[in-house]
Amino acid sequence: MQAGVTVIDHPLVKSLLSRLRAADTSPGSFRRHLHEISRLMTFEATRGLGSREVQVQTPLSEATGAELVRPVVLVPILRAGLGMLNGILDILPDAQVGHIGMARDESTHRPATYYCNVPADIGAADVLLIDPMLATGHSSAGAAARLKEQGAKNLRFVCLVACPEGIAHFTGEHPDIPVVTAAIDDRLDENAYIVPGLGDAGDRYFGTP
Ligand code: URA
Repeated sequence: MQAGVTVIDHPLVKSLLSRLRAADTSPGSFRRHLHEISRLMTFEATRGLGSREVQVQTPLSEATGAELVRPVVLVPILRAGLGMLNGILDILPDAQVGHIGMARDESTHRPATYYCNVPADIGAADVLLIDPMLATGHSSAGAAARLKEQGAKNLRFVCLVACPEGIAHFTGEHPDIPVVTAAIDDRLDENAYIVPGLGDAGDRYFGTP
């Protein structure tokens, strides 16, 4: 996959995103729809992952098939990224899962990692960094930088809704990392919420502020 931003143009993704956006979607439906859209988005997010030919024996003869070259590591950014995890794991059940938590350092105003647990051999893997909302881009760009420090080389960032400000920041810091999203919305508001967006993805998924 080329570096740059891919917006998934698919009617099923668009209709699920519309249900996620609706303010009157119940917490249960929000969870189900986030799970489902994350499953669907995995096909685009994994497009072009390295694969090699393998020979398989069918009941009738040999066939040439394919297998992924590298293991896949999923890294949700805590906590909202967890909402997309299980849907992606439905499609990649053997993926390893790391976790990363980002907070704003009040003295430097820069994103600081408060938790990071990823496989030691992350450099040998294809890594999907996951967070539903690419808002300011500070936490996702900080998380990607931390994963690179840990040795990650083949990174992709998967989000649900992005905005121009977040894309500019993330791709400015990480021009090498492809971004896959279901939508690019209009703007950030003064509270750093994406407009029109869907509100706070973590709050809506977990039912707690
Ligand atoms: N995080 C969210 O969950 N929603 C936004 O709109 C922005 C950041």
